[in-house]
Amino acid sequence: MKKQFAALIFALLPTFSFAAGGVEYPLDKVDVDLSDKAALQDGARTFANYCMGCHGAEYQRYERVATDLGIPEDVMMENLVFTGAKIGDHMKTGMQASDAKVWFGAAPPDLTLVARVRGEDWLYTYLRTFYEDPARPYGVNNKVFPNVGMPNVLSELQGRQVIGCKQVQIVEDGKKVFDPLTGAPVTDEACDQLTIVPKTGSLSEAEFDEKIKNLVSFLAYSANPVKLESQRIGTYVLLFLAFFFVFAYLLKREYWKDVH
Ligand code: HEC
Repeated sequence: MKKQFAALIFALLPTFSFAAGGVEYPLDKVDVDLSDKAALQDGARTFANYCMGCHGAEYQRYERVATDLGIPEDVMMENLVFTGAKIGDHMKTGMQASDAKVWFGAAPPDLTLVARVRGEDWLYTYLRTFYEDPARPYGVNNKVFPNVGMPNVLSELQGRQVIGCKQVQIVEDGKKVFDPLTGAPVTDEACDQLTIVPKTGSLSEAEFDEKIKNLVSFLAYSANPVKLESQRIGTYVLLFLAFFFVFAYLLKREYWKDVH
């Protein structure tokens, strides 16, 4: 009986811990295309310019990135390497982990594999949902990572994002609701909504989303660089098989000619 009771407790445990987690912020979907080199290059540039001051991608070398993404070595050295590193070096951050701990309360983790750990949708939503919160040390909070230690490093691009109540279109069963008579969207006041203050960032909302999509694409590549390679090799393998099939067939015909 005791054993069964213990088994029941363990069976129920996930339910309890889920309940304790509260409502998760819904993640926005992102469609990453690893064959889009221009997107990956743009993402690599954003990563070097805006993230590597604090984060590294230590399991990745500059040289490998340059080769995989088709970036010439001199362009790579000029535009993506700021830490005095050489082309063959690992992509380390210039910041000391011990300093970071003092400044931000948490050391910025290495991001080489973060796309595998967190998922692409999580990253895409995280990087777009920083909002102003005067109660936090750096004046910002985040929707998917509440009370995060990271400042909003992309605010000059995105602009100021604030939280509050606004009119939003009602959605029922995943569909937006329109007035059957006028065709106008049916709205209601909802609170806890994010809004970007117009003209406070250098990019429009759509351009910013694209920038983040490219950055997430780069992180997805960095977490799985062989994926690009295996896609390329896969094509050759299929071509070879098609070619080989013709010869195998001809050879078979030749052998069986005398048997019949
Ligand atoms: C000024 C320093 C700084 C910069 C610049 C910075 N971050 Fe961070 N980041 C942090 C800190 C500190 C944390 C840890 C936050 C915590 O645990 O509370 C963090 C956490 C993260 C996390 C969450 C990691 C995890 O799984 O817990 C991601 C993802 C991330 N940063 C991505 C980025 C990206 C992408 C950029 C560039 C656009 C960037 N960061 C720029 C300081 C920084």
